[in-house]
Order: sequence, then structure tokens, then C-alpha cells
Amino acid sequence: MQRANTKTYFLKTFGCQMNVYDSERMAEALARDGYSQTEDVGNADLVILNTCHIREKAAEKVYSDLGRIRDIKDTRKRDGKETVIAVAGCVAQAEGSEITRRQPAVDLVIGPQSYHRLPELIVRAETKSEHIVETEFPGDEKFTAMKAPRRASSPSAFLTVQEGCDKFCTFCVVPYTRGAEFSRPVAKLEAEARELAAAGAKELVLLGQNVNAYHGEGPSGRAMGLAELIRRLADIDGIERIRYMTSHPRDMSDDLIAAHAEVPQLMPFLHLPVQSGSDRMLTAMNRKHRAAEYIDLIARVRAARPDIALSSDFIVGFPGETEEDAEETIALVKAVGFAQAFSFKYSPRPGTPAAALEVQVPEDVKTGRLHRLQALLDEQQGAFNAKTLGSTMPVLFERPGRNPGEFIGRSPYLQLVHAVGDGNFTGRTANVAVTETRRVSLSGVIPAA
Ligand code: 5AD
Ligand code: SF4
Repeated sequence: MQRANTKTYFLKTFGCQMNVYDSERMAEALARDGYSQTEDVGNADLVILNTCHIREKAAEKVYSDLGRIRDIKDTRKRDGKETVIAVAGCVAQAEGSEITRRQPAVDLVIGPQSYHRLPELIVRAETKSEHIVETEFPGDEKFTAMKAPRRASSPSAFLTVQEGCDKFCTFCVVPYTRGAEFSRPVAKLEAEARELAAAGAKELVLLGQNVNAYHGEGPSGRAMGLAELIRRLADIDGIERIRYMTSHPRDMSDDLIAAHAEVPQLMPFLHLPVQSGSDRMLTAMNRKHRAAEYIDLIARVRAARPDIALSSDFIVGFPGETEEDAEETIALVKAVGFAQAFSFKYSPRPGTPAAALEVQVPEDVKTGRLHRLQALLDEQQGAFNAKTLGSTMPVLFERPGRNPGEFIGRSPYLQLVHAVGDGNFTGRTANVAVTETRRVSLSGVIPAA
């Protein structure tokens, strides 16, 4: 039932693509409830921060934002207007009532597994004076209760296929904030993918904290792996491209590697975090793989799909990391050759095993190691892009660029491409002749058809 509602909401999303997907679902639930979205936080009856807890900086940013939003709430109150402040996402899950203690202006704290209850909880927050903290883990309920999307906001659509993680890397909050690993059933994902395709999506980005551990229930009741799911989604009319992230090296099955050779819709891109090139650090991180195993795995992936673009995550300055360990990471990067990567200074997270270790690495040492690693990764990214100079590639265009006749999209290798062409290419795939390459993007022209 639609409530008579003239209210507006402001929604800010921090962190990973999973939060982007969740924010889209929350926005749809609010729209069904009659809310309209505003970009002006001063004008919002409801403010939602969808938060990230992965590193300390991300979590602290939430509290500084909340301070500013409290001031806005106070100003609006003087004008006779009420404001409901809600904190969602992983900070909500991890910190619960600590949030309302640190910032009493917050009305509602809601963990990622409770979003289907958002409209009901907002009504409670409006009518009750106490804080509401909702951080239970009811499992499958959220996906069942939250309707599938009605519109694709971009030709590239996120689809959460798996949530949570059972790996317990010693630095990581995800097993605590997102809970145990859970895979959505194949039939539900096919239905959602068909709706996305009907709404104009050309690309599906399958999301999960440990997406290649996917083992959802298939139509016959038997569990299906990610490769089987990808093969089925590739059969849906209108789906031209499929990507998935984030994967764990231990769960990279032969079948998934084979899919990279056999499924034309599966894009030649793999985000496979390694975190470190030192076996000592990998053991301390509880990563369940060694550096040599990672390198061997990459060789097998490349045998299946020689042109694949490789991406990774790295942590420098994990407790106890020495210069030699840092050197081993540099050596691994040189051995593999990445098309792009993310690298971070280790950030101790409350409640994780590594945060309690006594041998923390000094900040300036972390900074030095991060710069060195990033310089190498930047160089590799530039070199990967430079190799595409003069080639022609299909690009899925997502939006118009700043200049007339310019469109912005992604290559099969996830490179950002600016191209000029005659016509409207937004939402379409077109071939681009690459005329210029930089570290973070390519430029080209779309030849007349
Ligand atoms: N400190 C720094 N980086 C972290 N990551 C996860 N936890 C931490 C932490 N405590 C990084 C990992 C992971 C990515 C999403 O964030 O590299 O793959
Ligand atoms: Fe975190 Fe990824 Fe390790 Fe899971 S596999 S604990 S999500 S870093």
C-alpha cells in the first residue's frame, strides 16, 4: 500500500558496490512509500547514510558527517521541521547502539540484513522518541522481502548474488558486519536479471563479498557454482556482458576458469585480491593461499583467457611486516603484471584478530611502502592501457561526456573510455578505435557505421 507522503530523503553511500546495490534497493522501497529523493540535505525529512566499516577512515568519516547533519537537524527544528537521521550499512552493523551514544541525534541504526524493514522502522522512528537499533541477521528474508528493481539506472547493473564471508582474514570486518556466507537461489537471480535486462541493462555485475564461493540452490535443488550461474545468466536476451567481484583465490574453480574461455559474455577482467606477496604475511592474515599458488592460479587463468585484465587488492604494513615481506609483494606484482589494483595501509579494526597484535608497523613506514607499491602498480596500469593503442574494442557507453559528441563507457577490460561519435551512444555498445591512452583512461573515436 502506498502511504500518502510528500516527504523527501537524502541518501549518501560510502564504500563498496554492495552498498551501492543496497542503496538502490532502499531508494526503490522509499519511492514505493511515496518519498522523493533530494540532493539537498538541508531539505530532507529523512537522511540516510549507508556506511562502510572496512578501514578506520571510512568509519570516522561517518561521524564527522553526522555532526554536520545534527546541526542541520537543529536548524530545521527551529523552523518547525522534523528530520529523521538513519545510519545503515556496516558501521551500523558493527557499532549498533554505540552510534546513538556517540551521536544522539541519530534516530535509527539499521544493519544490512534489515533493509526490507526500513519503511516500517522509519514510521516507528517518527512516532517514538527512543532510538531504534536493528541489527539482527535474519538470513534470506531481506532479498525475499525487497522487490526486484523496476528500472536500470545505467546499462551496467549490479546484482547481489552472494553476501557475507566465512573466510575470516584476520584484518577484515566483513565476516562480522555482513555475517555468514549466503548465496541467493539461481531462480531468483534469473528473475531479477531478466527484469534488469527488460529495464535496459546490458551488463550484469554479479556482487558478493566472496562471490566465487557462490553455491546457490539450482532449479533441481542441487547447488550451482558461480560458473554455472554465469552460463545461465549469459542466456538471457539482452545481456551482453557479465562481470563478477570480489573473488578469493581459494575459490577460483576450474569450471570458473573454463568459463573465461568459453562464455563470450564473460568479460576478460578478474579482480582477485592477493593482499601480500609474503607467505609469512599471508599466513598471519589467514588468507589460506601462498604467493606461489596465486602466481600459478594466474597462469591457469591466462591459459584460458590470455588477454585477461587482472586486478587485485593489497594491504601494506600488516602487523609484523618487514622490509623483506614488502619486497616479496613488489616481486609478486612484477611477476604477475596487473591492469589495475587497489592498495591500502593496514588499518586495525576493532574486534578483528590482527588489531590485537602488538607488532603494529609505524605509520610512516606504511606510507613509504604504500607509495613504492602504488608507483609500480601505476606504471603497470599505464603499460596495460598503452598496449591497447591503435586497437579497436567494443565499448559499452554509460553516459554522455562533457564535450559535444563525446560518450563515456567501459572497454571489455574495464578501462574507462572517452570517445567521440556521430549519434547517441548512451546505453549502447559500439566499436572504438583507440587513439590515445593515459594511466586511468583511453580516448578514441567511434567510426561511422
Ligand atoms: N586495513 C586495510 N585494508 C583492508 N582491507 C580490508 N580490511 C582492511 C584493513 N583492516 C582491504 C583489503 C580488501 C579490500 C576490500 O579492503 O585489501 O580486499
Ligand atoms: Fe574479508 Fe575478503 Fe577475507 Fe572475506 S575473503 S574475510 S571479505 S578480505
